[in-house]
Amino acid sequence: MIKSIDTSRGSFSSKFGIIAAAAGSAIGLGNIWRFPYVLGESGGGAFLIVYLLFVLSIGIPVMLSEFIIGRSTQMNPFGAFKKLAPRQPWFIVGIMGIIAAFMILSFYGTVGGWTLEYLYKSVLNRFSGKSADEVSHIFEGFRNNSYRPLLWQVVFMGLTFLIVVAGIEKGIEKYSKILMPVLFFLLIVIAVRSVTLPAVSEKLNPAEGLRFLFKPDFSKLNAKVIFDALGQSFFSLSIGMGALITYGSYIRKNDNLGSSALIISLSDTFIAVLAGIAIFPAVFALGFNPQSGEGLVFKILPVIFQNMPGGYFVSILFFVCLSVAALTSSISLLEVVVTTFVEELKISRRKASIIAAILITIMGAICALSWYTFRNFGVSTFDESTGQMVHFNFFMILDYIALKFLLPIGGLFIVVYLGWFHGKKDVLKELSNEGVSKVIYYKLFMFLVRFVAPVAITIVFLNETGLLKFN
Ligand code: PFF
Repeated sequence: MIKSIDTSRGSFSSKFGIIAAAAGSAIGLGNIWRFPYVLGESGGGAFLIVYLLFVLSIGIPVMLSEFIIGRSTQMNPFGAFKKLAPRQPWFIVGIMGIIAAFMILSFYGTVGGWTLEYLYKSVLNRFSGKSADEVSHIFEGFRNNSYRPLLWQVVFMGLTFLIVVAGIEKGIEKYSKILMPVLFFLLIVIAVRSVTLPAVSEKLNPAEGLRFLFKPDFSKLNAKVIFDALGQSFFSLSIGMGALITYGSYIRKNDNLGSSALIISLSDTFIAVLAGIAIFPAVFALGFNPQSGEGLVFKILPVIFQNMPGGYFVSILFFVCLSVAALTSSISLLEVVVTTFVEELKISRRKASIIAAILITIMGAICALSWYTFRNFGVSTFDESTGQMVHFNFFMILDYIALKFLLPIGGLFIVVYLGWFHGKKDVLKELSNEGVSKVIYYKLFMFLVRFVAPVAITIVFLNETGLLKFN
């Protein structure tokens, strides 16, 4: 029997516990909703290549660094840095993480709400007999509705709140263990149907979708694609804001951090690519524009379900799984804020959860109604590449600031701290579980955190801001 650590903070009951919970945080709407639409808008296969490179060279090292910091300090991101480097400004990572969690959960709750609406619509069979065009209209009609997106966002946030109030262990483990494998299986089923979908006209072909995804057209590679891929990789892996520092603080001393980070990152990436295989063949078979924005998967999936034996049930099961995947991620976002409030402000978990959930739900309400009531609440800029004005609503602004700036900069601080300031002995101690296991990848890891990841993140920023132009 292994004794669990620090019962006052709760801990995970099994090895699978922490992997499942951290994987539950990573796998969510980021993989299934955001990855396909951003890839569709930004470079197709060229995006995929850059994305994979970022996961391997930056994502995994940042994730492992967060685990090391979390487990060695047993604290929230803010407290962890104050403990590790007193009187130095590293705790800023913790503050940026809290701000990022607020912003991300605000818009995440909106899309979580869309998922619940689609579960509801699936149960009522609302897509039955509808053409692809009609399905698209249903999505637009819903998103432009004056109250429904808000209603579902509030329900989604309420569920997130209830699970967090119940405590980390009970809340998370139960759900992800059963439903993640089901989601994985359903994605395979959907991908098979998508690839074999009959094209609506002779000129169209689902195989084009696979080519779009896997055959990179490097002429599409530009600063925007690279910047998008960096933000998406951080978002999808749940890194750069300390969520995994918080989770790392619950990992038991005898669990292997390196293999956990590797398994989680690779499965997260695999699920995202699988979502791409499920979506793009259908996009091309139906003559859809891959650049359809945030609504892409909500417009495509119901059409695939319509064309599938047992589609009614598959669709319900799929949206159940997606809702749970979204919840296991939103829980981790709220958890960052709550754990920090509890430990730093010395307030009860209940109080911290209530305050955080209310504030985020209010900010999220503006996101939820960003296409209707608050549609003018945003900024318009001139897009040189298309020669048109583009409007960024509140939802898009939060997504932009958090993913493009807060997460990568947070990640930069985390790897620089770990690589240059944490002390090699301490790193090795955590990775080897105090000398128990061998760390054959130690040199590679240190090289990545000290040089590759910081340099790569910096170059992407310089390139994007135009201070340095590589293309
Ligand atoms: N990784 C989650 C997803 O892909 O849906 C989103 C997320 C969760 C981002 C937790 C950041 C985070 F801290």
